Amino acid sequence: MTRRSASSHRWLARQRRDVYARKAAEEGQISRAHFKLEQLDLRFKLLRRGQRVLELGAAPGGWTHYVEGRIGPGCLVACDQRPIAAGAETRVVVGWYGDTETDQAIAVALGDMPVDLVLSDMAPNISGIRSADQARAMELADLALEAGIRWLGPGGDLVVKLFQGEGMDAWLKQVRQVFAKVYQVKPKASRPDSREVYVVARARRPESTVADVPAQAHDSGYDDSDTLGLTVC
Ligand SMILES: C[S@@+](CC[C@H](N)C(=O)[O-])C[C@H]1O[C@@H](n2cnc3c(N)ncnc32)[C@H](O)[C@@H]1O
Repeated sequence: MTRRSASSHRWLARQRRDVYARKAAEEGQISRAHFKLEQLDLRFKLLRRGQRVLELGAAPGGWTHYVEGRIGPGCLVACDQRPIAAGAETRVVVGWYGDTETDQAIAVALGDMPVDLVLSDMAPNISGIRSADQARAMELADLALEAGIRWLGPGGDLVVKLFQGEGMDAWLKQVRQVFAKVYQVKPKASRPDSREVYVVARARRPESTVADVPAQAHDSGYDDSDTLGLTVC
């Protein structure tokens, strides 16, 4: 018999109590994260048939599956270093966003054309050292904003997972320079005891940018040798 650690016992017990984890299992959803995007979409009407979408931090594929169902014949490019369960039409880019090869593979997959929506559910591996985890989470938020600036056309929308804590206010200031409307929301499906929130930034201003957003590759500390080049959509 497999022996489980105390933390894995706690995780299992929490999953059993968690309404959305149960609902995901009952409905055959890939992950409970599905419901967070569904709730954001119901509230903000983010997704439409035929849209072009870039998704960052897509594994295991809960959001990917939801987006595929909403955009139909549109174009979805989904990026993560981990394997993503995706439909045949989705262009999967395997790699860390921010690494040069990954960024190039995304550019190829998008045919260097702008998108209507950038979604980032990227989250760092948690070390337990709160200040380090928050710093890493804010780096990912910077990367997501940089993706919005790089890929969204005028009027485009950006959705980013954030963790409340140091750096968030300064980051939001930058986002407001680029987007006409910025909302901070906690979907019901987000665990109430987590610092996770989502920022929905709407209507990218034409030609907008911010001075301090990093445009260069970052050092993720991971091997990114599996990056795939893909067909254009
Ligand atoms: C919370 S999970 C995403 C769940 C996903 N939205 C779903 O619905 O199944 C966060 C993901 O972010 C990914 N991630 C973290 N840093 C990343 C980066 N720089 N580039 C791409 N993905 C990243 C992790 O590998 C992880 O799979």
